[in-house]
Amino acid sequence: MAEVKNNKRRSFLQLSTISLGAVGTAAFIWPFLKSMNPAEDTLALGSTEVNIADIEEGQGITVKWRGKPVFIRKRTQQEISEAKTVNLEDLKDPAIDDDRVKKDEWLVLVGICTHLGCVPLGQKITDMKGEYNGWYCPCHGSHYDSSGRIRKGPAPTNLAVPPYSFINDTTIKIG
Ligand code: FES
Repeated sequence: MAEVKNNKRRSFLQLSTISLGAVGTAAFIWPFLKSMNPAEDTLALGSTEVNIADIEEGQGITVKWRGKPVFIRKRTQQEISEAKTVNLEDLKDPAIDDDRVKKDEWLVLVGICTHLGCVPLGQKITDMKGEYNGWYCPCHGSHYDSSGRIRKGPAPTNLAVPPYSFINDTTIKIG
């Protein structure tokens, strides 16, 4: 009987120790994680203003925003109409072009392939733009269209659209 009682007591002590250990670890992790979150003022600095006045139709530029490449392309009429006339049923990640742009001629995208994170080609005039006249990621062969939507290859989703706004006709604020 005394043996059983001792075993119960031992089990209780072991459980208590484990529980206290878990609480101690959680208490340690929380301030550590909190200190890793960017401060409000750092976040405020995480926006970039871009002058787009000199970008010609059909031309793209790449800017850096929060360490990521952002593609800004001034689309041609042909690129715009291609983007708008796609059948949504043909898309792996269905999205209408109108929801991906604020002004038809301007497309703003995070330039990171959604497969494994390469930077796709298509920004330079001489770059391959893939089978859908947008961007081509040669890492594993993903093709994006002129709205940045995935059309062929292993990438699972469209190129992301970052938060941005037009400050005026010639300036975009990203972030
Ligand atoms: S990273 Fe772009 S296709 Fe694999």
